[in-house]
Amino acid sequence: MKKCDVVAKILAGRRRFSRDVGRAEAPANIALCKYWGKRDEELNLPVTSSLSLTLDRVGAETEISLCASDDQIHLDGELLSADHPFAFRLSRYLDLFRSENEGYCVKTQSSVPVAAGLASSASGFAAAIKALDALHGWELETRELSILARLGSGSACRSLYSGFVEWHAGQREDGMDSYAEPLSLNWPEIRLGWMLVSKAQKLIGSRDAMRRTRESSLLYQAWPAQVERDLAVIKGALIRRDFARLGEAVEANALTMHATMMGAQPAVLYWLPDTVKVLHQVADARRQGLAVYATMDAGPNVKILYQAADQERVAAFFPQINPLCG
Ligand code: PMV
Repeated sequence: MKKCDVVAKILAGRRRFSRDVGRAEAPANIALCKYWGKRDEELNLPVTSSLSLTLDRVGAETEISLCASDDQIHLDGELLSADHPFAFRLSRYLDLFRSENEGYCVKTQSSVPVAAGLASSASGFAAAIKALDALHGWELETRELSILARLGSGSACRSLYSGFVEWHAGQREDGMDSYAEPLSLNWPEIRLGWMLVSKAQKLIGSRDAMRRTRESSLLYQAWPAQVERDLAVIKGALIRRDFARLGEAVEANALTMHATMMGAQPAVLYWLPDTVKVLHQVADARRQGLAVYATMDAGPNVKILYQAADQERVAAFFPQINPLCG
């Protein structure tokens, strides 16, 4: 099944007029239980479900209008060349929605810290599909927007909601059952910060890294079962507000994801010496009675999970920490 078939299914029977401009914003999200591996690369269908926390104060703001020329993609006030990776990827996504000879003018402001490894694509594609919906007046359900955002970037399907969000892997070939939904849970005292290890561009993107892990790492065979267990533990801990249980499962899930990558051939090794240093600092802090836990995505930087009541101690222990949520 092709992306355009999914788009056609969802937009069937929708009116299509165009306002002058469609505007929208969408937040970034950090997975507490990670998505790693696609069962369908074309549709970004995941092998497993995943669960994230939305970062309400960090994200993308996008406005889209039609133009008679080729696409004009602006990021943070700068007009990008058509072969810029962000512009190229967004234009291929816009191809799914344009009528013949129609170009889009896109202006995106992103407050996602560039070096944080926060998958800026998640908020970027979620904001883009919401802005397209506003521009063309489709009035899609949020679930449909989640499916369409996934076609741009898997994790983007979780950026349609605030709070704790689960992306159901689904089983269908067309991916109509693979969308995100908010969990009816609220835990405003949860905090996330990040520690800068490196600002350098990563050597391998998540799409290629996932493929290589899935195809060549024997350890990946254990990943779906690990996720099933972690998801259950994380959900249970969120319901009971058991922070230690939550943190242990979140950290184990992220480090196991990286272990599957390290088992690939050649290994996918995002870690730098300072990554290991920060992970040891986190373990040290715990030995000193501070409830902090680490999580990591497809990069060397480390995110730290803690509770609002520990804010001052965390700031004293990790003076370089950058807040992400709360
Ligand atoms: O959606 P992508 O292709 O940027 O992949 C995201 C992968 C991780 O950030 C490592 C995990 C996740 O669930 O967000």
